Amino acid sequence: MVSLVYNTLSSTFSRANIFLKPQFSRRTSRLRINLSQFGPIWSSKVTNSNSFTTRCSSSSNRITEISCDDNDIVVLGIETSCDDTAAAVVRGNGEILSQVISSQADLLERYGGVAPKMAEEAHSQVIDQVVQRALDEANLTEKHLSAVAVTIGPGLSLCLRVGVRKARQIAGSFNLPIVGVHHMEAHALVARLVEMELQFPFLALLISGGHNLLVLARDLGHYVQLGTTIDDAIGEAYDKTARWLGLSMRRGGGSALEELAREGNAQSVKFSVPMKQHKDCNFSYAGLKTQVRLAIESKKIDTETPIFSASSQDRSLRADIAASFQRVAVLHLEERCERAIDWALKIEPSIKFLVVSGGVASNQYVRTRLGEVVKKNGLQLVCPPPKLCTDNGVMVAWTGIEHFRKGRFDLPPPADEPEDFVFDLRPRWPLGEEHTEGRSGARSLRTARIHPSLTSIIQSSTPQSLPFNNDVENMKHHAG
Ligand code: KG4
Ligand code: ZN
Repeated sequence: MVSLVYNTLSSTFSRANIFLKPQFSRRTSRLRINLSQFGPIWSSKVTNSNSFTTRCSSSSNRITEISCDDNDIVVLGIETSCDDTAAAVVRGNGEILSQVISSQADLLERYGGVAPKMAEEAHSQVIDQVVQRALDEANLTEKHLSAVAVTIGPGLSLCLRVGVRKARQIAGSFNLPIVGVHHMEAHALVARLVEMELQFPFLALLISGGHNLLVLARDLGHYVQLGTTIDDAIGEAYDKTARWLGLSMRRGGGSALEELAREGNAQSVKFSVPMKQHKDCNFSYAGLKTQVRLAIESKKIDTETPIFSASSQDRSLRADIAASFQRVAVLHLEERCERAIDWALKIEPSIKFLVVSGGVASNQYVRTRLGEVVKKNGLQLVCPPPKLCTDNGVMVAWTGIEHFRKGRFDLPPPADEPEDFVFDLRPRWPLGEEHTEGRSGARSLRTARIHPSLTSIIQSSTPQSLPFNNDVENMKHHAG
């Protein structure tokens, strides 16, 4: 049974603005959240592992009661932070009722990257259909939803806006609470939908087109960042390498490169592993990209010729580069994960799992290699299925459920929200606090790579006008 009683709703609070530390896990049976600083007194009580009640004891105009069972919570998740328009409906018990994705493969193939304005238009064209299909396939209407979850960052603000507008329209029209979701947190938490045994604290490696993060997840909403990328993320390196090798970007550069690498000799080109001298958990892929470009030039590969029309000799040269790149790119992940496991166990000795998620985690070679690292260290690997590693609506809906269960959501927006309403979008949004040991190396290197005189250019220029535009372009597009 879900009962949701609203009176007139006026003020809002964002889950990101409230700092709650409830003593709760999926196994504990009682939770009290005190929201007294936000006006009326709220309290949530978990009556058993599958149900909870949230009340507002004041007679003022707020939600007065939510009473639900996990099976009755149904959340619509919407994701538009980059180039995929995705929506899904998920039940509180983890059942995926529907999952719909519309990708911008044509644009990616044509432009070799994400152009924000065009991506925004593409999202706007399909968002209504994608959401409608997600509801239809779940055999539901908006009236059956408990809440709407939507990615509010990090990502491209033009794109985020499309999803947030749609989510607020639905929430406003049907008087539904709304949960603003962190895209990278969603990549991590979807692992808890897949592996119900996965409890906090756990370690997570999040690898996508714009981010490389090593995060210690201590509790829901409580993360410590052990490492991040100081320039490019691994997905960006896969995509650029794929493009330079003349691979089709239609299904994404990463998977095309993974396929070609299977034909190659991974020892044939000697690339060096990034950041060997930095004994921290940060990442760097810009240097490896340069090494790849130089190797392609030195082997005189005509990068304008697509792979399908390359000679067999040329194809095998490309495959060797692909395999050698992949070996070193993943070795960098392995080394950082080894160290992060040490660090994490010192902070939280009870850790049992390493979660690996984000688009690049759908790569079989990555999964196998990291599986070995985890085994060696006596942990277990949790890697969501490939469809849940790349951007999707399920991870957003599920993260919405996790926060909703704890009473962390915004109240429904007004049904007649003005067109020019300023949404809470967070194109740059760090996930948790930085671990002090992880800070020094990253900071000094980042400052060293970007000379102060360039900082103002970076802030004010279009990517095309920049001196090393490929590297900066990615930073601008995937700021997190
Ligand atoms: O998480 P995601 O879908 O979107 C972002 O948040 O960026 O990750 C996309 C990235 C792209 O760079 C894509 O090439 C990469 O994930 N990717 C892969 C594979 N599948 C997707 N990289 C390597 N191997 C794959 N099989
Ligand atoms: Zn992503």
